[in-house]
Amino acid sequence: MKVLVTGGAGFIGSHTCVELLENGHEVIIFDNFYNSSPDVIERIEKITGKSVKLVEGDMCDAETVDKLFKDNEFECIIHFAGLKAVGESVAKPVFYYDTNIGGTLNIIKAMQKYDVKKLVFSSSATVYGMNNVAPYNETMPTSATNPYGWTKLMIEQILTDTAKAQGDWHIALLRYFNPIGAHSSGLIGEKPNGIPNNLMPYITQVAAGKLECLNVFGDDYDTHDGTGVRDYIHVCDLAIGHMKALNHIDEIDGARQFNLGTGVGYSVLDIVKAFEKANDITINYKIAPRRPGDIATCFADTKRAYDELGFKTERSLEDMCQSSWNFVKNLYK
Ligand code: WQD
Repeated sequence: MKVLVTGGAGFIGSHTCVELLENGHEVIIFDNFYNSSPDVIERIEKITGKSVKLVEGDMCDAETVDKLFKDNEFECIIHFAGLKAVGESVAKPVFYYDTNIGGTLNIIKAMQKYDVKKLVFSSSATVYGMNNVAPYNETMPTSATNPYGWTKLMIEQILTDTAKAQGDWHIALLRYFNPIGAHSSGLIGEKPNGIPNNLMPYITQVAAGKLECLNVFGDDYDTHDGTGVRDYIHVCDLAIGHMKALNHIDEIDGARQFNLGTGVGYSVLDIVKAFEKANDITINYKIAPRRPGDIATCFADTKRAYDELGFKTERSLEDMCQSSWNFVKNLYK
């Protein structure tokens, strides 16, 4: 299939492009490199030995998006492009609503104009909000605690309503849990921009000596060791989840949500210990106050993705830790 991957130079997008190319699909990457870099394109080509067409541009520019669709007869869209920093979204809500929702509306309008009926959307477990009890399943009530989360939830609703109105669209709404890890080549991974908000990029910066000490945000949660529990999924498993969604897209009538997680929760200290063991490195950390907006426990009910997409994660926590470090240490060689 000829697939448009918006945000294809990003962390999850790049790993998904590798998977698509290795499965024989034609990939066109549309990216403005706001949170990624052009060198990722040649790294994808080096890993796969396949060429990738790049269109640099901003999904918020309607004319650019229209020309992109006019010049290519896409069969499916995998839509990653968007802003994703929770804290930044609280400080700049209009920027987030304008970019994530405005940009997505341009993609949807182009799909309608050029008769593209298949889309896979990068959603997030953050839409489960603060009031559900893990394991989270796709029928649970949704909410958000920050503008970033609201953009994901609103886009899910926009796509659901549009698919219903169109009648013959097929849309997979993939709710990621906590993606970590990197491709085994060490050529692509989660490139740290500034001080990382997320746990694994922060740990790898401490391991690299770029940051002094990890702050563990709270050890008084109702979990096995008091620190926050999350469902960490290897980014390569996540990429395979996108392939599975693509392979089953015709069986999805309208829009349908799917959790992409392992179904297993690990605490912050579990991750620190696993990283230390996997890489024979000591990570300095100290217990710090809870981070506002954090919940105690979050992990996936994986049944629907398994039953309907045939998706099941395969990679271990050890691999997630080793591959994360393998990528970052190569950055500083
Ligand atoms: C994981 C755990 C923290 C950093 C976020 C977004 C979500 C998705 C994934 C985009 C928590 C603890 C973290 C640190 C710590 N992003 N932690 N010290 O918050 O589960 O999810 O990223 O889709 O939308 O909300 O991920 O990696 O920030 O935190 O103790 O320096 O690690 O308290 O328990 P989170 P995270």
